[in-house]
Amino acid sequence: MAVVGAGRMAAVRTQALADVEGVEICGVASRRPERARRFAARFDVGFSSGRYQELLAAAPDAVLVEAPHRVQDDVVRWALENGLHVLVGGCLAADLPAAREVRRLAAERRLVVEAGYEARYKDVWRRAAALVGEGAVGEVLCIQSTALVDQDPASWYYDQADSGGMIVTHLSYAFLNPLRWLFGMPLTVAAVSNRKVHTHPGAVEHETCVATLTFAGDVLCTATAGYVKPAALSAWSVRILGSAGSLDMMPGDDDPGQLLHFPRQGAPRPHTFENNTAFHEQARAFVGAVRGQETVSNPPEDAILDLHLCELIADSAARGGTPLRARP
Ligand SMILES: NC(=O)c1ccc[n+]([C@@H]2O[C@H](COP(=O)([O-])OP(=O)(O)OC[C@H]3O[C@@H](n4cnc5c(N)ncnc54)[C@H](OP(=O)(O)O)[C@@H]3O)[C@@H](O)[C@H]2O)c1
Repeated sequence: MAVVGAGRMAAVRTQALADVEGVEICGVASRRPERARRFAARFDVGFSSGRYQELLAAAPDAVLVEAPHRVQDDVVRWALENGLHVLVGGCLAADLPAAREVRRLAAERRLVVEAGYEARYKDVWRRAAALVGEGAVGEVLCIQSTALVDQDPASWYYDQADSGGMIVTHLSYAFLNPLRWLFGMPLTVAAVSNRKVHTHPGAVEHETCVATLTFAGDVLCTATAGYVKPAALSAWSVRILGSAGSLDMMPGDDDPGQLLHFPRQGAPRPHTFENNTAFHEQARAFVGAVRGQETVSNPPEDAILDLHLCELIADSAARGGTPLRARP
C-alpha cells in the first residue's frame, strides 16, 4: 500500500495497515517532501515523494488517502484511474458531485473504495447497535447527539473549500454516519446554523449547526455539531432514549469510548471497552475486500448517502431551517 498525506491520521491508519498480515507499505507522498521522508523513515518505507503521482513507481495495489478533502478528491480520482483500490481517511468526497465520480469510477473499474467512518468497526457502536436491536431500550423515541471540537481556525478543517465544510467534515462523522447505520437514512431533515467566532473569508459557512432529523418508525433526532468549544468542555455524546430505557454513549474519538445502559428501573449498567480496535478492524476489512475475501462497511454506494444528507442539511440551513424530505 502507498500512503498520501503524512499528518495525524496517516500515522494512525498506516500503523493499522502495516499490522495486517501480508501488507507492505511501499511508498509515502506528502506535499512537503521532507515530511514525507520523515514519515517514510518512521515506518521503514523505501520510497517517498512530494508528488503523489510518483507513487506509481512503487507499484502499490492500493492507496491510503489522508489529505484535506479537496486534495483527497484529486488523489482518489487519480488512484482509481490508475487501477488502485482506495482507503479514504474521512468522508467519501468533499461534495456530492465528487462522490458520484468516485462511485462511478470504483464501479466501472471494480475497485474497492472504503470511506473512513470507523465507528461501524468500533465496539462501543457495535454494542449500542446490538442493545437497540435486542430491545434493551424498548421502542426508540428520540436521539440527541452533540459533537463539538475546538478546531484550529488556521487549519484546512476551517476552510470551506479545502474541507467541504463543517457539516461534511465533522457532522457526517459525528454522528450522522453511525446513526444512519443504526436507524437507516433519515426521512426528513431541518437544520439551522450560525457562524460567529471565525468569520474570515473562506472560513466554513456553518460553524455551529443543529440538525433535526426523523428516521423511519417515528424516531426523532437532534444532532448538534460545531467547531467552537472551550478546550476543557466535554461535548461528544449520543443519547438514545427508548420507551423502556436509554443508552448514554460517550463514543470516544481515539479512545475506546463507553456507554451506560439505563433500564427502565434500577441502576445504570456500564459497558466499557479496553482498546479502540476500530482502525485495525477497518484496515483488516479493507485488505480482506481487496483480496476478495470480505466486504467493507462504508462502500461508495453507502457513503455517498452521507454527502446527500449533508447537502440537505446545508440546504435547509441556508433556507433558515426549512424542513426537507430525503429522497428514498
Ligand atoms: N477518527 C477519524 O477517522 C478521523 C479523525 C480526524 C480526521 N479524519 C480525517 O483524516 C483525514 C486526514 O486528516 P488529518 O487530521 O490527518 O490531516 P492533517 O494532519 O492536516 O494532514 C494532512 C496531510 O495532507 C497533506 N497534504 C496537503 N496537501 C497535499 C497535497 N497537495 N498532496 C499531498 N499531500 C498533501 C499534508 O502535507 P504536508 O504536511 O506535507 O504539508 C499533510 O501531511 C481527513 O480526511 C480527515 O477528515 C479522520
